[in-house]
Amino acid sequence: MSQEPKNDNTFNRTWRPQDPYNDLPKLPPQNELETKPILRQAIRSRAALSELKKATELIPNSAMLINTLPLLEAQASSEIENIVTTADQLFRHFQAPEQDNPSIREALRYREALLEGLRDLETRPLCTRSAEAICSRIKDMTMTIRKIPGTKIANAISGEVIYTPPDGEQRLRDLLTNWEQFMHRRSELDPLIVMAVAHYQFEAIHPFLDGNGRTGRVLNSLFLVDQKLLGLPTLYLSRYIITHKEAYYGLLLEVTRRGSWEKWILYMLQAVEETSRWTTERIDSIRELLEHTSAYVRERAPKIYSWELMEVIFSQPYCRIRNLVEAEIVGRQAASRYLKALSSIGVLEEQQSGREKLFVHPKLLGLLTGHKSTFTPYTAAEEQKPYL
Ligand SMILES: Nc1ncnc2c1ncn2[C@@H]1O[C@H](COP(=O)(O)OP(=O)(O)O)[C@@H](O)[C@H]1O
Ligand SMILES: [Mg+2]
Repeated sequence: MSQEPKNDNTFNRTWRPQDPYNDLPKLPPQNELETKPILRQAIRSRAALSELKKATELIPNSAMLINTLPLLEAQASSEIENIVTTADQLFRHFQAPEQDNPSIREALRYREALLEGLRDLETRPLCTRSAEAICSRIKDMTMTIRKIPGTKIANAISGEVIYTPPDGEQRLRDLLTNWEQFMHRRSELDPLIVMAVAHYQFEAIHPFLDGNGRTGRVLNSLFLVDQKLLGLPTLYLSRYIITHKEAYYGLLLEVTRRGSWEKWILYMLQAVEETSRWTTERIDSIRELLEHTSAYVRERAPKIYSWELMEVIFSQPYCRIRNLVEAEIVGRQAASRYLKALSSIGVLEEQQSGREKLFVHPKLLGLLTGHKSTFTPYTAAEEQKPYL
């Protein structure tokens, strides 16, 4: 049963928003974590996540997902911190960096941090060093554990201080060591519950001067891979957080104020369930679009069709002549012809981007950034003659 105190006057009387929370309790929490509602929700979340894992594995080339889904996650996670870009801008910029837009560059660094963290998982488990590496990549400067006091979380409009994290480098390092141990200890706890608890704790420790939210969310994605719940960091978890941002902030605070672990854990588990379903639907649709487009191009433009060509136009929603050359599909001149042919049959759309041509893949872009997880099929191939 939940042991949540009913009244905040009876709990955590020592905590005050404007004072460093140096009494932040170490993990594990004293509350019962495996309450009935949590266990029930954990089963649903695990089932949805395992569907996502399967859908991810069915995509024949992982580049198709690893180039695209982490960019969606990067966009939403950055927007939680008011770094606003659109996913479309990110995809475009990724192919053809045009203007010097700091928000775009910052969001792209989030994706790099995630992919770099993924590589680092092969050599070390998630730890304080991983957090420093991730935060440094996101902020594009060396970020180490805070040495000076003064970091606070305040209301952006009123300036009212909501929470002051603990201070003192050694205290922060000790808390982080406990956080690492909690993530890696052998326990019966469902790893999704571990992730939720560890995320609160990381944010409450708030080890850096800035970038704590984004670093913590990259760590969530990596933890799921580390625990083998996903093969690749394809879950678009920040989608839920951005659409339920007030609850995210409110529930983090309620753990501090009242030890309301149950509500917080349920929130994170629901986030996993909902975004797993969303991401699975999109991945299934991308796979259907891939099959449908392959068949269509084979009929309408059989001379240029190759599986490798399909891989290139599905690995990101914007494509350049150079991508075909780099994938060794054809030389430069022929590559231009191939992309124009794909445009003539409606698979791509040619756009001018500075001096370069950019070819957008509208149906793929629609699946990634649109509201619907379905696409309008190409007109039945029998009705038309081959184009090439
Ligand atoms: N009451 C709170 N207690 C602990 N952490 C919080 C609280 N409210 C918000 N946060 C976390 O702090 C993050 C913002 O911290 P910040 O260092 O500015 O990160 P970033 O630069 O990535 O935005 C939020 O995204 C959230 O994860
Ligand atoms: Mg910030």
